[in-house]
Amino acid sequence: MTNLPTLTTARLILKLPEENCAKLMRNFVVENKAHLSFWEPLQADDYYTENYWKKKIEEIRGDFLSDKSCCLNIYEKETSELIGMINFNNFIRGAFHSCFLGFKISQQAQGRGLMTEALQAALQYLFQKLNLHRVSANYMPNNQASARVLGKCGFKKEGIAEDYLCIAGKWERHVLTGLVNSSWRGNTSSES
Ligand SMILES: CC(C)(COP(=O)(O)OP(=O)(O)OC[C@H]1O[C@@H](n2cnc3c(N)ncnc32)[C@H](O)[C@@H]1OP(=O)(O)O)[C@@H](O)C(=O)NCCC(=O)NCCS
Repeated sequence: MTNLPTLTTARLILKLPEENCAKLMRNFVVENKAHLSFWEPLQADDYYTENYWKKKIEEIRGDFLSDKSCCLNIYEKETSELIGMINFNNFIRGAFHSCFLGFKISQQAQGRGLMTEALQAALQYLFQKLNLHRVSANYMPNNQASARVLGKCGFKKEGIAEDYLCIAGKWERHVLTGLVNSSWRGNTSSES
């Protein structure tokens, strides 16, 4: 059976959300609602409830075990506070071995290099342990903090897509980027 990930960096611990952290995750999205709303899809009202997060955590844990995604909570070591989330979604294996990346950090934790530190560790895990070959990450051209984090982690620009994602209720143009695992070794048959 796959071991559930716990990754440590100099300042952070990254873990698959635990069964008992629904309230914590609900509090994170409520406290950061205004900060995140510019960069995310419109959320249904129940997104801000503990019940939503209970079900979501079950789904996240199930999807990790069935090789569909890897979602990690980011905790600051010193305070044990939940400060962010990294989601690698939509694993496709076979000839693709690819997924999509999303990430967010609390308003007050920004600007200290923490997302870069977290993402570098998460990518290393994704490539070395979960054996993905490509990660796609896309951002709105005015999200320069996101562009910079991706650049620092080695993502390369691959193009522009018009009306790519519906963010805050509006179809938005995105810069497309990708990172490839150059040391990938594996099986690309349709069964893998
Ligand atoms: C994007 C986000 C995760 C960055 O987290 P963070 O922990 O502040 O990131 P880091 O500190 O590791 O790096 C941020 C970099 O962006 C730079 N930056 C921040 N705001 C910037 C701006 N407005 N213009 C240009 N650069 C900017 C910082 O200077 C830093 O670069 P540097 O190390 O060269 O100085 C955070 O701002 C966030 O959660 N935003 C809302 C959600 C979001 O946008 N998610 C991504 C959707 S694609």
